[in-house]
Amino acid sequence: MKYLECLICFKISLLTFCSFNLNAQYKESDLPLIPRPLEMQKVQGIFLLDNQVGLDLKSKDADIKTASTYLIDLLKNDYGIQIKQTGAARSIRFELDPQIGNEEGYILHVSPQLISIKSKSPAGAFMAVQTLRQLIPIGQKDKLEIPAISIKDEPRFAHRGVMLDVGRYYFPVSFIKKYIDVLAAYKINKFHLHLTEDGGWRMEIKKYPKLQEISAWRDSTVIGHVSDKPRKFDGKRHGGYYTHEELKDLVKYAQDRFITIIPEIDMPGHTLSALAGYPELSCFPDRKYRVLTAWGIQKDILCPKESTFKFVEDVLTEVMEVFPSKYIHIGGDEAKKDNWKVCSHCQELIRREGLKDEHGLQSYFIKRVEKFVNSKGRAIIGWDEILEGGLAPNATVMSWRGEKGGIDAAKLGHDVIMSPNHYMYLDYYQTPEMRKREPVAIGSYLPLETVYSYNPLPNSLTKAEKKHILGVQAHVWSEYIPNGKHAEHMTFPRVLAMAEVGWTAQERKDYSDFISRLKKAAKFLDTKQVNYSKYFLEQY
Ligand code: ACM
Ligand code: ZN
Repeated sequence: MKYLECLICFKISLLTFCSFNLNAQYKESDLPLIPRPLEMQKVQGIFLLDNQVGLDLKSKDADIKTASTYLIDLLKNDYGIQIKQTGAARSIRFELDPQIGNEEGYILHVSPQLISIKSKSPAGAFMAVQTLRQLIPIGQKDKLEIPAISIKDEPRFAHRGVMLDVGRYYFPVSFIKKYIDVLAAYKINKFHLHLTEDGGWRMEIKKYPKLQEISAWRDSTVIGHVSDKPRKFDGKRHGGYYTHEELKDLVKYAQDRFITIIPEIDMPGHTLSALAGYPELSCFPDRKYRVLTAWGIQKDILCPKESTFKFVEDVLTEVMEVFPSKYIHIGGDEAKKDNWKVCSHCQELIRREGLKDEHGLQSYFIKRVEKFVNSKGRAIIGWDEILEGGLAPNATVMSWRGEKGGIDAAKLGHDVIMSPNHYMYLDYYQTPEMRKREPVAIGSYLPLETVYSYNPLPNSLTKAEKKHILGVQAHVWSEYIPNGKHAEHMTFPRVLAMAEVGWTAQERKDYSDFISRLKKAAKFLDTKQVNYSKYFLEQY
């Protein structure tokens, strides 16, 4: 058996070697494929994609139509090509193939007569479509010369996410759609919407109208960095919120691009905007609360009263009506315990429940919320602070303060999404000159190469523990990102490096090869009017 396997292996290697040898001039980096596929072989010839090409759907699965319709619309809108339904000279074929092991895996063959896409599921077909899109030479229209090629591909991780903080600033739905479109082009499959912050509550909650009337708006916003002295403010009202209808439309838009939107309602901290509308949710209801106008961690947080849990459950009920995602992110980060320490209700609750301290109380809070979310058939994700005081039984941990929380959670048998700040916080500066050359940012320096270098599987985990690492995520916190154009500047191209971290097998990663491909990918970003940072073009 071993001998036979070796022989097969040798034959495959020989085949691969021969096919690359046939094209001695060809380098993988000649094609702008990001993330880099698992296996690819260039073959002779081209497929001419024009109005004579037809669609050949071998599967009746409605979802595969989502992938093929996406391709048809793309060819029409971006390239002026109308795909024929019958009687075509050449065709694009979609076929489901149960032999393919990975849900998002695919095999793409391009030959002069046929583009064949095989996948286990519609998601894989969509990923193949994105690869095909990247094979289209930039600048061509009407008649596209797709290089003949054979690609066998699958992702390294199932979770490849990006978080956008729409709490600190409101971003229009039209911008979010454009953003999702570009993320989908790089096979990112999770979009985490951070919907609530001290500086603004952005989701319509029908049962609590003051969240729309009061919590969604602030009077003014700090200009420059919060540490600048003296602090200056713009004196302008800022805010907005997304209605259920808008969010449902966004969910569908993302689904059509095989992206799941994971909503986050942050609690018990980062809730000052909610307290501005409903002070009774705090430990000190008689105090006045204002939606935050500058940035920083606040001591005013939710008080774990029965009426607060009722509010949280009502809010999450509406969240789960709008978002079909299995995961609901309930935050849990940076909840200062100052008020809980001096609140008679909180102290009594600690005594009554036999909790160790205020961290135990946060754990009690998160566990209660988890129980409610689980009872609706969903699961929670929380920031790594939810480990403090004891992890809720089924929680997935999003590790942001480095990898420690993720490692501890995986060792406890919990699922983990790795997003350590020093590799994955795209709100950090991207040049060594920082503020001397870039618009003001939160601080710290995160170059493209560092994002690319990240390996989400820490050496300190065993093979079994590594299975708990679902994947990787980049975060775009928006304290210093007031609009979509700026969000693009911070996100791109660093998120393309993250996309390759999440998708490409570790042994296939190569930074200089990535940079060659990125230079070509930049031309695609130009066609989409994406305001990416040009720094890498000076550097390399
Ligand atoms: C975080 O950066 N507070 C999750
Ligand atoms: Zn309290």
